[in-house]
Amino acid sequence: MKNIIVFGAGGHAKAVIDTIEKTGIYQIVGIIDGLKPSGTSFYGYEILGNEQCLVQHEALASSGIVAIGDNWTRAAVVEKIKNILPRFSFITAVHPNASVARGAQIGSGTVIMAGSVIGSDTRISEHCILYANSVAEHDTRIGNYVTLAPGACTGGNVHIGDYSVVSLGAAIIHGKTIGEHTVIGAGSTVLTDIAAYMVAYGTPAKALRARVQGERYL
Ligand SMILES: CC(C)(COP(=O)(O)OP(=O)(O)OC[C@H]1O[C@@H](n2cnc3c(N)ncnc32)[C@H](O)[C@@H]1OP(=O)(O)O)[C@@H](O)C(=O)NCCC(=O)NCCS
Repeated sequence: MKNIIVFGAGGHAKAVIDTIEKTGIYQIVGIIDGLKPSGTSFYGYEILGNEQCLVQHEALASSGIVAIGDNWTRAAVVEKIKNILPRFSFITAVHPNASVARGAQIGSGTVIMAGSVIGSDTRISEHCILYANSVAEHDTRIGNYVTLAPGACTGGNVHIGDYSVVSLGAAIIHGKTIGEHTVIGAGSTVLTDIAAYMVAYGTPAKALRARVQGERYL
């Protein structure tokens, strides 16, 4: 098994840790989270400290995954890690009960949870989260730092820009484009393209207001 470090010790990290454990290919050697006291335990693993202690633990593990649910915060932590330890690499965690079709590609740092379906020739970029029972159908293109919440789904050939979120149970019909930094609200049905930097929701979904980069959505 390959030794890895998990960054983040919140509720989302538990879901990521469970996925990692189920893969059976990684051994978690510790958790990095500057907000938790080092030496304490989180979900059965030791809190090692904050990102600065990465260098001292490099011999133990030089790869891992950032398990922070908020897309913008996750990106900031990835950048911090790259600055501290440029050699550090990010793993991909795919739950054994997820289905990944032939030709699909999954970028580093991305986690695919139980029951998710990645369709044929779909491309998921880096540091994304596909929560339980989400679906990215054939030929879909998903940018970096994107979240598909539980039960969210895309038809075929959908494009989703960097940092966007498709919330709980929302559906995007085939061939539509969601711009970057956009949030699609829970339960929405998206029938048209939605521009970048928007909050859109409803059935049919409408872009109801603008949002700024990094604005909270959880
Ligand atoms: C869309 C969302 C981000 C809120 O956007 P917002 O602009 O801050 O909207 P507000 O909460 O101020 O609500 C404004 C109005 O829209 C309604 N509304 C909010 N979200 C809605 C949704 N998803 N569908 C339908 N109506 C919604 C509210 O009820 C409210 O109606 P009212 O004015 O009649 O009271 C949020 O509701 C949402 O869906 N979040 C998704 C969270 C999620 O799934 N997280 C999981 C990620 S893993």
